[in-house]
Amino acid sequence: MPRIFSGIQPSGELHIGNWLGAVQNWVTLQLSYECVFCIVDLHAITGKYDHETLAQRTREMAVGLLACGIDPDRSPLFVQSHVAEHAELQWLLNAVTPIGDLERMTQFKDKSQRFESVPAGLLNYPVLMAADILLYRADLVPVGDDQIQHLELTRDIARKWNAEFAAGEQYFPEPQPILTEAKRIMGLDGEAKMSKSLGNTVGLLDGPEEIWQKLRPAKTDPARVTRKDPGNPEICNIYHLHRYFSPPETVAKVADHCRGAKWGCLDCKRELADNMIAALAPIRERALDLHTEPGRVEEILAEGAATARKIASQTMLEVRGRMGFLPAATLCPDSR
Ligand code: TRP
Repeated sequence: MPRIFSGIQPSGELHIGNWLGAVQNWVTLQLSYECVFCIVDLHAITGKYDHETLAQRTREMAVGLLACGIDPDRSPLFVQSHVAEHAELQWLLNAVTPIGDLERMTQFKDKSQRFESVPAGLLNYPVLMAADILLYRADLVPVGDDQIQHLELTRDIARKWNAEFAAGEQYFPEPQPILTEAKRIMGLDGEAKMSKSLGNTVGLLDGPEEIWQKLRPAKTDPARVTRKDPGNPEICNIYHLHRYFSPPETVAKVADHCRGAKWGCLDCKRELADNMIAALAPIRERALDLHTEPGRVEEILAEGAATARKIASQTMLEVRGRMGFLPAATLCPDSR
């Protein structure tokens, strides 16, 4: 069975953009592939970051993923920094990664402009990502289109490493992307992609009242000033959200009522809110359950790390050997 690896940054609570864009897909992929899922906290320190909330954000992300249906009995879920092999392989892969390739990455070019002094971690970010994937010798990686370039670099790194240290044998498979329908979920401000840092999200664990309070002022077709103005659903973010949360009959009705000015935006939002609340209710319930079982999340993450480590340590044994390192001898306990 092909193996899948994917990672998500510990941004804290998941929002509907993460869910529709990535996590829902992960949940389905578990049924047909061997999956390994990782909360990539080492990636989260490659820019300015808040060390005081990192641990909490990591834990919240784990709760969110489990609540969405990542099944730890099927797919290990773990925290990247708990498996030291990620950082180790990252260092070894630096041996076959040209700086020029790293400097050429679009994400690096964008993000490095925000710094007066660019941290080396930002440049090496894609090498760590390559290490994540290659450590498990994954065949497939579900990613958003903003990560395609990093995945290409991962394949270059795998190819170079194979040529140099495995006599051209495909020790590391060249991982292919799994591109799902490009769901770029716009934020409720209708201006930018939904993102926690922009505060334009609906949280997956938001309750009914919170959801309504967020949808009520959300941006719709700007040309629809009063209820009597006909609207254009194609340019209305609320209509697009209906397509993810409402049954097809409702979506058709929404389009018709909007074009014909048969109802107001608030009516349209109320119906979306109800459907969204119903869709998110089971997720919220599972999250609340997890919160009431002390130590359960920690236990799941520890088991996930143990499973991941088993694969990772095997790979590292092989990699160190092929790269020519002197094997560390193990001391008998009584010779010390
Ligand atoms: N860079 C990815 C993102 O920002 C996260 C990530 C890190 C990742 N390591 C990975 C994704 C390995 C897939 C595979 O979305």
